[in-house]
Amino acid sequence: MRHFLTLNDLSADELRGLIDNAIQLKKELREGRAKAPFENKVLGMIFEKSSTRTRVSFEAGMAQMGGHAIFLSPRDTQLGRGEPIEDSARVLSRMVDMIMIRTFEHSKIEKFAEYSRVPVINALTDDFHPCQLLADIQTYVEHRGSPQGKVVTWVGDGNNMCQSYINAARLCDFELRIACPQGFEPDAALLEANKDRVSLTRDPLAACRDADWLVTDVWASMGQEEEQAEREIKFKNYQLNHHLLSYAKSDAVFMHCLPAHRGEEVSAALLEDEKHSVVWDEAENRLHAQKALMVFLAEHA
Ligand code: CP
Ligand code: NVA
Repeated sequence: MRHFLTLNDLSADELRGLIDNAIQLKKELREGRAKAPFENKVLGMIFEKSSTRTRVSFEAGMAQMGGHAIFLSPRDTQLGRGEPIEDSARVLSRMVDMIMIRTFEHSKIEKFAEYSRVPVINALTDDFHPCQLLADIQTYVEHRGSPQGKVVTWVGDGNNMCQSYINAARLCDFELRIACPQGFEPDAALLEANKDRVSLTRDPLAACRDADWLVTDVWASMGQEEEQAEREIKFKNYQLNHHLLSYAKSDAVFMHCLPAHRGEEVSAALLEDEKHSVVWDEAENRLHAQKALMVFLAEHA
């Protein structure tokens, strides 16, 4: 049985196959030829943080494949009243076929997976958001082809998305440049382990020079709301906009996992610039990429 807690749970070949299948599933859906391999299958979805894209893409994806998804919030389950993770994992995984979790500490999802009888999917933790990377990679492949050998520039917080890009750099074999303010770096051990292809700078302009793919995310993630004002000051020179874009390759793409804060990490003009911004395709691809992920996990269960 396989879990998907970080991108590193896939080999490079498996990732390529999964992205190919996501593109195929998207085509079949558009042509009205979608198959329903998940009849009588159930996905449990535990959300300890808010979500629009993740919830709807998993729930719609499961419905399109003939299965069913159950939304579980800590507000009205025993998990929220302190039932141990080990117990919740053992009970839920006897009733459903796959479990998706969005939570805070990454260690919580690791513990859940340890006690689960069915595949567990990371739908975002404080440290990683690998499902978003499946969609981002699919989107790059659709618009520009293979990401291998490309230059990807991350401008902003060294957060869960940034750390997922570090894993992607290794699996997809691209160069990743991270421009972030002091004190907001990704995990030092993760950086060290990937220093052959991941570099860190304080200079967003230098990081964007000749880049193929620009990406950012909010300055304050879920759970950091009280730091918003302080972060707005510290990140003020780290906005992706047309000035930084002008240093990148002329056909550079812009991505953002969304939700976006226009005028903070990205200018409204860049987010809406259809020549470069692929954020709406990127959001849609959550649906197709996660369907391909669930198919992959079911095949290996
Ligand atoms: N990008 C993303 O995960 O969005 P949601 O928080 O809306 O699920
Ligand atoms: N870094 C953001 C991503 C949201 C999809 C957060 O964790 O809130």
